[in-house]
Formats: sequence, structure tokens, C-alpha cells
Amino acid sequence: MSLDFDRPPADPVTLARAWFKDAEGTGLPNPNAMTVATIDPDGRPSARIVLLRGFDERGAVFFTNRESRKGVALEAHPRAALLFHWDPLDRQIRIEGRVTHASDEESDGYFAARARESQINAWASSQSRPVEDRATMIALQRAMTERFAGREVPRPPHWGGYRVSLDRLEFWQGDRHRFHDRVIYLHDERGGWITQRLCP
Ligand SMILES: Cc1cc2nc3c(=O)[nH]c(=O)nc-3n(C[C@H](O)[C@H](O)[C@H](O)COP(=O)(O)O)c2cc1C
Repeated sequence: MSLDFDRPPADPVTLARAWFKDAEGTGLPNPNAMTVATIDPDGRPSARIVLLRGFDERGAVFFTNRESRKGVALEAHPRAALLFHWDPLDRQIRIEGRVTHASDEESDGYFAARARESQINAWASSQSRPVEDRATMIALQRAMTERFAGREVPRPPHWGGYRVSLDRLEFWQGDRHRFHDRVIYLHDERGGWITQRLCP
């Protein structure tokens, strides 16, 4: 969907969904991949890629280990910046907001839909912690496979979703000669949206 940056639509959620759909049409292997930037407990920024798993008026959801480096950062500073970039479309979307836990039901639902191997690996991996070697990782994986043999793998208590609220969104469309189009959406006082075009 091409966007008239002089007359952007009133609702950025519908617009973002349309751009996500366009991204799916590119054939990229992970059109829902986004960079998540967080602030470590010592105030330093860090960033990594995760997959967007939910998106609506309440925010953008991804799932991870809450004891990972990003989890520790988000528990200390519950704010994040998200960034999508789709090279074939010459587009990016930036989102900034406050971070909350997705509900247990939401996290359970997503965890239950994952492949059993991924469920086991969520138990086997202390994400972001040092590990001796791959053999140690495989031994942990084997131990968890045995632990849950013959039954459903429950969601680890430290694994779940984070939701980033939509405090600020930016839609960016590249121009061949660097005269790009940009529009930001911010909340107005009545819970609606105001838009501003930005210089490239
Ligand atoms: C395409 C792609 C998708 C990824 N998706 C996720 C994800 O949804 N959740 C996750 O925890 N890590 C995901 N990762 C791994 C993260 O980039 C990162 O290595 C991991 O979460 C540990 O980050 P941290 O040490 O900053 O917490 C993904 C990596 C790539 C390249």
C-alpha cells in the first residue's frame, strides 16, 4: 500500500498492518523480524533482532526469555524502541513505547503453538548466559527431553511475551535521491493521533 505522506491515514495501526502485509509479499524469509533496542541496568543501550508475534492498538508483542540480557534490561527500564527495515520496499517503521508483560494466557497460547523441540530448548537454554561448549548445551537439551518425555512441555516461568505500547510510530519511505518521506504518529490529549511530516 503506497502512502500519501501529505495526507496520512488517521489510524497508524491499520497502516502498519498494511505495511506488514506488503513485507510478507516480498518473499523475505523473516518479514516480521525487528530490532529491539533496550537500556541495560547500567544505562547502556543494547539491541538485537526478534520476531514480531502480535500487533494491535495495545502494542507490538514478541516472546523471549525474561532472564536474558534483554529481559534483565526490560525489567530495569521497561521502555523499548523497535525497528523494522524492508530493503526490497525501501521502507522502515520505528516504534517506541513502554513495555509490559503479555498475559500468562497469551504467553501460554504462543508457547503451546511452538514446535516441541523449541519448547524443550526454551528450558535447556539459559539465554544470554555463558556456556562451556556445545556439548554442554546438548547435554542440557537431552536432560530436558528426558524430563518432559511422554508429556506436554509447560511454558518455563521465565519465558513469555513483552508488549511495547505504541507511544510513537514513524513510517519511512526511501527516495532514490535521499529525499525520503517520513511521518510520525503521536498521541493527542484525547487519545487520538496527531501526525507530523519530518524532513528526511
Ligand atoms: C531472525 C531472528 C529472529 C530472532 N527471533 C528471536 C525471538 O523472537 N526471541 C528471542 O528471544 N530471540 C530471537 N532471536 C535471537 C536474538 O537476536 C538474540 O540473540 C537473543 O534473544 C539473545 O539476546 P539478548 O542476549 O540481548 O537477550 C532472533 C534472531 C534472529 C536473527
